[in-house]
Amino acid sequence: MTYLSEKSNNPITLSTLVKYKKTGEKFSCLTCYDSSFAHLMAIAEIDVILIGDSLGMVVQGQTSTLPVSVADMVYHTQNVVRANSHALIMTDLPFMSYATLADAVANARAVMQAGANVVKIEGGGELAEIVSTLAKNGVPTCVHLGLTPQSVNVFGGYKVQGKTDAQAEQLLNDCETLVNAGASIILLECVPAELAKKVTEKFAVPVIGIGAGVDTDGQVLVMHDMLGVYTKKVAKFVKDFLKDSGNETGDILGAFVNYHNAVKNKSFPSVEHSF
Ligand code: KIV
Repeated sequence: MTYLSEKSNNPITLSTLVKYKKTGEKFSCLTCYDSSFAHLMAIAEIDVILIGDSLGMVVQGQTSTLPVSVADMVYHTQNVVRANSHALIMTDLPFMSYATLADAVANARAVMQAGANVVKIEGGGELAEIVSTLAKNGVPTCVHLGLTPQSVNVFGGYKVQGKTDAQAEQLLNDCETLVNAGASIILLECVPAELAKKVTEKFAVPVIGIGAGVDTDGQVLVMHDMLGVYTKKVAKFVKDFLKDSGNETGDILGAFVNYHNAVKNKSFPSVEHSF
């Protein structure tokens, strides 16, 4: 197999994602936490890299994302940006690091100065003031709704969200509030495919899905899940691209390329990976 070299002269920006949304081109997103994998993702032309607080579970061996610190997010963001000048870089603000407006501003500043292009925060309409303050200060936000792992203790486990009409309506209203406040990206985790499709069609901002069906503008997976190396709990929406995508050589770069292509040609996710 011949691979393209890193396209550092063609960085993905928020405008690229908006253009993709308008033209119907899907985009790929993977989590990444270090330079070696970030380099391979540049070669595979993964569009968006998420330095997710999932690193608490897949890198640190914690039982949830709650113990992750802002210093952890800064460290892993710095590691990734050193090796990838192609992808849009999105970094999570971890648990309780945006509980107040002052914390949100200070911690967004820390991860942006580490190299993030976008910060991701979990929640609903209550985040509007944070989103608008960050937007006024030049910080684009991705708002993460549906199953928000930082609230696992409120949900009582990792469960599909937005299943009832009332929950679906609440999620649509939350998205509207956050988009009006200036959110740049919506990320939906573990929601029915039909609801994710509605959100994607209703709003002009790019929508990324994980366990949210094939109709969102982009797809994200946790890298350790799609390489089959995090086996403690394998969610329905995960596909192992190292084993199950005709990747005969079993190489990691091939898995990233196959994932990117499967998202672009809409063969992933299929119905078996959706709710
Ligand atoms: O932290 C993370 O990796 C995430 C994804 C599950 C979307 O938020």
